[in-house]
Amino acid sequence: MVEFALPKNSRMTVGKTWPKPSDTSNMRTFVIYRFDPDSGETPRRDTYFVDMNTCGPMILDALIKIKNEIDPTLTFRRSCREGICGSCAMNIDGINTLACIYGMDEVKGTIKIYPLPHMPVVKDLIPDLTNFYAQHASIMPWLETKTERPAKEWKQSIEDREKLDGLYECVMCASCSTACPSYWWNGDEYLGPAALLHAYRWTIDSRDQARTERLDDLEDSFKLYRCHTIMNCTKTCPKGLNPAKAIASLKQMLVERV
Ligand code: SF4
Ligand code: FES
Repeated sequence: MVEFALPKNSRMTVGKTWPKPSDTSNMRTFVIYRFDPDSGETPRRDTYFVDMNTCGPMILDALIKIKNEIDPTLTFRRSCREGICGSCAMNIDGINTLACIYGMDEVKGTIKIYPLPHMPVVKDLIPDLTNFYAQHASIMPWLETKTERPAKEWKQSIEDREKLDGLYECVMCASCSTACPSYWWNGDEYLGPAALLHAYRWTIDSRDQARTERLDDLEDSFKLYRCHTIMNCTKTCPKGLNPAKAIASLKQMLVERV
């Protein structure tokens, strides 16, 4: 288990313990971070008890049940419920992951849930991803072309298309970047594993015509080289991707072009 630092503004007070269900024969305990920056109150951890006989198997199922049946003020993001939209990323039992594809049976004992670490909190389990998305936009996540585009499709060879496997599947959940100590301390200047994985994805796309500009932009002691190969990103990615390898490949491209 990877223990990450708490979210920003993590001074805690003792929270509320909510009532147990009438049937406690198959019950699980959840301790969940609660914080509303607009309330003027310090963050707290509330304790909830969920009857597993009437709950689905995933962590998100329990969060939805708590919100629907126990405490409607509990706030979190979710949409697809199948690991595709990336919106339900949070820190579960010390691991950054997606609540909708993380099974309750993967956690022993009390299930502790926090927002993604070291990010400003909008409310409860929702981190402020403004800077994360701005960094993604900064790497130009689109095809840059200079010649005239073909009238219909811009085809790739099977081999060139295969180079994008392990990259295009990223759902921008931010689990990797917020698991990275370098990103915790230098997140304003270091682009972080997610943005750099996407930077690599577009740099090696056979149809892109801005490779030189992309590499020029990344040749920066903070944007790229704050990666110290700690590997938390790859260890935590809930989609099984390898941002650390993508970053290493970018560094290699920069060395080889000198
Ligand atoms: S690389 Fe993995 S952990 Fe990082 S944003 Fe993409 S899907 Fe999430
Ligand atoms: S709800 Fe879409 S990834 Fe979890």
